[in-house]
Formats: sequence, C-alpha cells, structure tokens
Amino acid sequence: MSDLTFEIENNPSPRPDADRVALMANPGFGKVFTDHMAIARYSADRGWHDAKITARAPIPLDPAAAVLHYAQEIFEGLKAYRTADGGAALFRPEANALRFRRSAERMAMVPFPEDAFIEAQRKLVEIDRAWIPDTADGSLYLRPFMIANEVFLGVKPATEYLFITIASAVGSYFKDPNGTVTVWLSEHYTRAAPGGTGAAKCGGNYASSLAAQAEAASKGCEQVVFLDAAERRYVEELGGMNVFFVFDDGSLLTPPLSDSILPGITRDSIITLAREVGMTVREELYTIDQWRADVSSGRQTEAFACGTAAVITPIGRVRGREDDFTIGDAVAGPVARRLRTALVDIQRGNTNDSHGWFKKLF
Ligand SMILES: Cc1ncc(COP(=O)(O)O)c(C=O)c1O
Repeated sequence: MSDLTFEIENNPSPRPDADRVALMANPGFGKVFTDHMAIARYSADRGWHDAKITARAPIPLDPAAAVLHYAQEIFEGLKAYRTADGGAALFRPEANALRFRRSAERMAMVPFPEDAFIEAQRKLVEIDRAWIPDTADGSLYLRPFMIANEVFLGVKPATEYLFITIASAVGSYFKDPNGTVTVWLSEHYTRAAPGGTGAAKCGGNYASSLAAQAEAASKGCEQVVFLDAAERRYVEELGGMNVFFVFDDGSLLTPPLSDSILPGITRDSIITLAREVGMTVREELYTIDQWRADVSSGRQTEAFACGTAAVITPIGRVRGREDDFTIGDAVAGPVARRLRTALVDIQRGNTNDSHGWFKKLF
C-alpha cells in the first residue's frame, strides 16, 4: 500500500448545470471534459507526492520536458458506468492499474502505485459524478496517463514524472452503436515489432499507427487490421482494439498475447465469459490467408473487435489492397450480440457478477 492520498480542491468555477447538460446531450467520444482532474508528481528525492483532485486546467510544461522529445508517455482507458440506483461503478480497475504498471516498466518509467491509481479514479468519478451520462451507451471515460517532465535533453529514463487522470463524458465510440465496422488491412505499415512496445499502452504506438489509420479512413474504413511485423502473415489486432473470429461450430479464436499485442481487459473478459457458457476459445495464431479462406468457405460466421471504447463491435467487411470481403451477412451476429449483452450487463450492474469485476463506487 502506498501512503499517497489525493487531497480534494474543488473547482471554484465548475460549468453551470445548463451548459453541462447541453454538452452531454450528444457527447461523441473524447470531446466533452469534466470540471476536475487527478494529478500527482514524482521526483527522485520525494517519490510520488502532491497528489490532488483539482480543477481541470492546462499543465505548464518546459519546452525541454523529456516527453516532448523522446515520448516517454503511457496511458490507460477505463469507464465509470451509471448504475440503476443512480450510483456509479468501475469495471476491473485493478487490471488497468496493473497494465499501467507494466507499461511504465516497459517504458523505463517509475510505476505509479496501483492502489493510488484506483483511488484517483474513485475520487475523480465521485467529484464529477454529475458528468456520468445515464444513456444506454453512455459512460464517463477515464484517461489516466503519465509523462516524463524532467527538463533534460539527454536520452535516458527521466527522474521526474507527472501522473494525471482526466475524465470525459462519452457516448458510443462508433457512429452507429448497433452497426458493423469496415476494417482496412494494412499491408505496408505494421504496428508493433517483436521486442518492441506493442504490449505497452504508450502514446508512441498510436502515433506510429496514424498513417495507417489515415490510409484506412481514405478508403472509407473505420479501423486498421495490423499483421505481424516479422512475417506479415498473422493477424494481430486493430489500431485500438483486439479481434475475435467466430466459426460455424460455435468456437472462437483470438490471436495469442505476445509482446506485439496489447493485452486487452475486454479481450480477457470475453474469453472468460465465453468459456463459462461452454464455448471453445482458442488463442492461436491466425494467418490472413486462413482468414480469407474461412470467410470464403463460410466456416467463419462472424468477426468482432473489442475494447473499452468499442465494447464489442462486429466487423462486417474487410478491405485491403487486393481484398474486399464481407463476413456473414455484414450485420451484428448472434455470438457478438450475446457476448456484448453478457459483458455490458456486468459492467452496468444489471446482473450478478461472480468474478469480482464490478466495483461499485457509491
Ligand atoms: C491497441 C489496443 N488494443 C486493444 C485494446 C483493448 O484494450 P481494453 O479492452 O483493455 O480496452 C486497446 C484499447 O485500450 C488498444 O488501444
């Protein structure tokens, strides 16, 4: 247990109620921010200190801060859900805290204590509770992150860090929450290499995926499917989501975790939930050729993307330099719908949770 506690400093001028309600009417994703943020500092001599919940505001940063030059940065993404009794809950926040620690270790940053990570989320949600949407697809998206703010241009792990969590009222990630997405098969760009940072949630991974994402958008696709960097044969994941395939015998397949795939908490939850209802889930390598063949033979009936932001989003169509194929009927299939319901019911406290995933905050 760390002895870091977040002191509360109320925002002296929060948004007026009417403005907040107007902003939350159609929040989209990642555009509407709350009144507060959690912040803590690290220095080599004082360790983690100055933890507080305070008014959300710009952060002063020296132009020589290490993060601006060498991208020593990590982040997380989790959601607070409005529960039927008007309270709020988090889903598996300790899994995010652990992944944040592992990302820090991979990026040679000083880890943030896991209990303090959870306390930051809890206190921020509590103070900004009016910002949690009560719509079926709405939630308060929490974005913890850490940056190296040591003022030094030498290339080495920094000795000063800033931990911050901001919160954003969000609706669904994709425009049509009940629709399917079209994905672009990236054959030129890869996302992560063996030995690289693909399993860490660091900003650099996303910066390097943006050219592929822009290519996808120019082809009318919502997301990119990345292949492995070594052989360019194995399907790994999407730009911001893990991927599952569903077969006509009712089984599921998802690529196995490696140092080039982000270990998604949604992915892990789906594997557990699917196995509990008797489905076979294989964590196996899957080549792009096999994907084409399985869709063409009809053996593959569904594919879906999953993540905190996307929840479970069916993939209707795959496009690439020489590919254009449709999966099933290009509509949300029964397996994706069933798993989505099972997952969302736990996240929102609509069902009994035997896993200890649902963390009621208040
Ligand atoms: C690259 C990538 N893969 C997978 C995921 C899904 O992870 P999670 O289910 O923990 O949100 C995310 C989202 O965080 C991601 O950015």
